[in-house]
Amino acid sequence: MQTNGPEQCPTQGYVESFSHFATDAIHAGQEPEQWTSMAVVPPICLSSTFKQHGPGEHAGYEYSRSGNPTRNCLEKAVAALDGAKYCLAYASGLAATLNIVHLLKAGDQIICTTDVYGGTNRYFRRIASEMGLKVIFVNCSDLKCLEAAITSDTKLVWIETPTNPTLTVIDIQGCADIIHKHKDVILAVDNTFMSAYFQRPLALGADICMYSATKYMNGHSDVVMGLVSTNCDKINERLRFLQNALGAVPSPFDCFLCNRGLKTLHLRMKQHFHNGLAVAMFLENDPRVDKVIYPGLPSHPQYEITKRQCTGVPGMVTFYIKGQLEHAKIFLKSLKVFALAESLGGYESLAEHPAIMTHASVPEEDRLLLNISDSLIRLSVGLEDVEDIIEDLDQALGTAHPGLINPTKLKDLLMHLKTNC
Ligand SMILES: Cc1ncc(COP(=O)(O)O)c(C=O)c1O
Repeated sequence: MQTNGPEQCPTQGYVESFSHFATDAIHAGQEPEQWTSMAVVPPICLSSTFKQHGPGEHAGYEYSRSGNPTRNCLEKAVAALDGAKYCLAYASGLAATLNIVHLLKAGDQIICTTDVYGGTNRYFRRIASEMGLKVIFVNCSDLKCLEAAITSDTKLVWIETPTNPTLTVIDIQGCADIIHKHKDVILAVDNTFMSAYFQRPLALGADICMYSATKYMNGHSDVVMGLVSTNCDKINERLRFLQNALGAVPSPFDCFLCNRGLKTLHLRMKQHFHNGLAVAMFLENDPRVDKVIYPGLPSHPQYEITKRQCTGVPGMVTFYIKGQLEHAKIFLKSLKVFALAESLGGYESLAEHPAIMTHASVPEEDRLLLNISDSLIRLSVGLEDVEDIIEDLDQALGTAHPGLINPTKLKDLLMHLKTNC
């Protein structure tokens, strides 16, 4: 077992947690005084329309596409968690992306980092670029490549960090410093994997922080939603217009669920970190595994950047199983605690095969360039007992590779984490 030594806790050395995070998650935007009933838990306001005192004289709401009280509570809470002035909620993460792209006009250029969620890649490549936008894919973890790619047409730089599924960490502050030498270029960060608890892109210089709230922000795998935060008045004003004009808004019930999910975000993320790290440490010395990628392991190429820009690391662990597609399939079919399913960030553990599942829409030659091979497996480590999670991985790896065993003593690994953290 490779550890950081007895005196060093592997969950320490990161940026300090954001002050008042839990209090904001529980109270920001939730003031009972806003309801005539003084409800402590925000009600689900299902009304699609709102009575006006006279034509154009309303009490803040006219029609639920342009504004809804339950959505408003959620948007205020997320703005507080992102250290932002504004937040807007959408019907899905991709709807949020679509709205951001509508800030641009035909002829503008988008620079998108190479390794992004497959649906984002598909949207940029097959839809945005067919609507007159110029889209190029650049490895933004290499700041020199990013700098060289910017032209006078560049209006949006889109990064995801860590990237999906190969968990490359991008230096947000480094990107912002380069981009903001140029006038009117927006830096948007997809913060889905980190959540607001582990990373605040706006404080690092990003103009827009975006989420698929379907993942950690809601955290219960029962909502599909997108969120966008910003501190820029101009961007907010335009996005607010587009939110109504394009109409991809979430339902009040989904807003209620996501708002409720946020109340435990800080607790969930701490446990995802603990369980994710234990899994990554277990897999790192496993003879049935070729390589583990986890930004919380010292072996990760951007471990230092991660500690500099994040308060911790979520439960996303990617690894290459030894062997071929067949071994990956046997492993995935043998899992019992993990469900073989797309998505991530819920309380339950999920495993998936990016090349066949989430990233099937990325052209094969691009997938190979990004190292999304047939042996790559992505885990979303959930909140079950970590012993059960690791034992499940161990037995499934054993089925894929009979005769090979992991020398790590699970008890020693867990004791190491317990005594040092
Ligand atoms: C990193 C990332 N961004 C965006 C999306 C798209 O979000 P949604 O599925 O909520 O539309 C996903 C979905 O998996 C994702 O993983």
